[in-house]
Amino acid sequence: LDSFDVVVVGAGFFGATIAEQVASRLGRSVCVLDRRPHIGGNAYSEVDAESGVEVHRYGTHIFHTNSEAVWRYLHRFAEFTDYRHRVFTVAKGRVYSMPINLATVCAAFGRAMTPQQARELIAAEAAAHGVSGAANLEDKAIASVGRTLYDLLIRGYTQKQWQTDPRELSADIIGRLPVRFTFDDRYFADRHEGMPLHGYTAIFRRMLDHPKISVLLGVDYFDVADRIAPRQLVIYTGPIDRFFGFACGHLGWRTVDLVREVHDVADFQGASVINYADVDVPFTRIHEFRHLHPERTHAQPRTTIFREYSRFAGRDDEPYYPINTAADRTMLASYHAMTADHPNVVFGGRLGSYKYLDMHQAIGAALKTFEHEVEPFFAEGRAAR
Ligand code: FDA
Repeated sequence: LDSFDVVVVGAGFFGATIAEQVASRLGRSVCVLDRRPHIGGNAYSEVDAESGVEVHRYGTHIFHTNSEAVWRYLHRFAEFTDYRHRVFTVAKGRVYSMPINLATVCAAFGRAMTPQQARELIAAEAAAHGVSGAANLEDKAIASVGRTLYDLLIRGYTQKQWQTDPRELSADIIGRLPVRFTFDDRYFADRHEGMPLHGYTAIFRRMLDHPKISVLLGVDYFDVADRIAPRQLVIYTGPIDRFFGFACGHLGWRTVDLVREVHDVADFQGASVINYADVDVPFTRIHEFRHLHPERTHAQPRTTIFREYSRFAGRDDEPYYPINTAADRTMLASYHAMTADHPNVVFGGRLGSYKYLDMHQAIGAALKTFEHEVEPFFAEGRAAR
């Protein structure tokens, strides 16, 4: 391990982008380690042997971005389809379009409305609720979408996501809930969106396919850290609290359990993702991966679905969504202060920065980190010391 110029911990989008840049732009040698048996991090995709459908083991991943630089960069490794994501929510036996748009409002109130009528109705409901300071998540959500839509689509879903009554959740764990007063039902509003034609794992294979890059899978960084020399640069994309032996405590995360089922039907639900808002349905969503690639026309008689159950992460669970309470933020600041003692380690990615990042944000952040921290490390000759 000590023969490499750079050791990248984590073969997700952050780590793979840095590795690719180090090899192709600096001509330096890189070793990419991942404790999992595969590349791709949480974006990993694989073909389900029972159905023949390509699935995303860690939940549905749709690529979308407004960044021309990231879109251009990723096109060096993949072609994208023109897939457009649409999401539906089942509530009380009916189906609604998400995020909330004019079709959702009309369906929830059972009548046709103009944008102006819908706007007035929601504003009147929010005013009737009458809480200005948004003390808790429920108040903040009702101020955005009114009582009817909140009760139907948000309350039960949020309660299941957080295993907590929304009145007991802090208002700042959600932003303002969007309501579109048009019939635009696209889930993402970004300029670029699509699915990689040959799947996500194929992107990572191409990114890491370089004579200067070696990949070691099934290797935990902490089992080999003592073999790394101070002149080597380490890009660490694992959990920041683990790097410091949890010295200041464990940062809070939510996780999801994805329960796989294979069904003997070509189509189980008619869409890639359907949310379930009712509190008496234990799962939050069902993912059906075949709908991500409608261009793959070969007839599959079976389909794979994942039911998603949300809960707080225990110590051994996969961290998925940072909870980010005030206590978490204080702890994170303590860990940031400790990074100063490790001048040859760069922390990044969603786990290393304790931030929810979409894929395009992870790639964008990695391209910036390369420019601002990795290139200068070699240009200033710190590696030689
Ligand atoms: P990522 O988690 O991918 O990679 C980190 C890697 O480090 C992991 O492979 C891990 O095994 C490895 N590692 C950690 N500790 C280690 C150690 N000690 N030793 C060795 N290896 C170690 N984004 C988007 O744009 N569109 C979408 O639709 C979705 N959907 C989505 C659904 C769900 C359920 C989640 C949780 C997330 C998404 N995302 C998303 C976000 C997307 O998953 C995220 O942007 C990328 O995974 C970020 O890439 P990173 O490289 O930062 O982390």
